[in-house]
Amino acid sequence: MSSNLSISETPLAAAEACGARIFRLLEGARKRRGRAFLAVSGGSTPKMMFEWMARQGFDWSGVELFQVDERCVPPDHQLSNYRMMREALLDAAAIPAAQVHRIAGEAEPAVSASQYEAEIRHVLGAGAGEIPVFDVIHRGMGGDAHTASLFPGEPLIADRAGVVAAVWAESMQQHRVTLLPAVLEAARHSLCLACGADKAGPLKSVLQGESDPLRFPSQIAAARTEWFLDRAAAAAL
Ligand code: 6PG
Repeated sequence: MSSNLSISETPLAAAEACGARIFRLLEGARKRRGRAFLAVSGGSTPKMMFEWMARQGFDWSGVELFQVDERCVPPDHQLSNYRMMREALLDAAAIPAAQVHRIAGEAEPAVSASQYEAEIRHVLGAGAGEIPVFDVIHRGMGGDAHTASLFPGEPLIADRAGVVAAVWAESMQQHRVTLLPAVLEAARHSLCLACGADKAGPLKSVLQGESDPLRFPSQIAAARTEWFLDRAAAAAL
């Protein structure tokens, strides 16, 4: 079994392990370069991790916080990833707004995607044609093996040049804005937190099945990803 796997007894323990690893990586990046660039995912799994992170009294200075993906809804909407992150982490940890770079879910998707790409390029200092390098990208995995907002069958899974795009997620009947594979692969560190029995089957396909990222998008950068799982998610490995 891969040494990149951390299997915890409970979802809370997996969330803590992933959160603690993110903190260590941010500290390392900040020590080396004075700043640290982090992108986090949404969905339901990270909530516990964000709440744990908010309780740790971590020094967020120099950390620039981005989103991996967002649903195209206003920032106070029930489905907004930003809303979940604000409620679970930003408010409680009092992270200065200037360090938080959200995807404008309320804007027209293509416009939001190009604004977000410009902001990433500006903050990370990536010129035209360069792929921005995050220190840490935290991802999740859906029950259909999607990651970020790259769902099975999405043609952009084959794209190796783009940074951000607007996509239509047919299975969710939702417009979304997402980081693209080149950015997920370029990150200095890639982490995935996945918990629950519904993740066991897809995880087996992603980690031990044939390589087919179009079908299993979580295979993007999978070999260099650190996986944080609970027992239920790891059950089929
Ligand atoms: C989102 C995400 C998404 C998520 C997976 C897992 O907006 O939904 O960022 O990519 O990581 O869907 O979501 P759960 O944690 O809810 O299973």
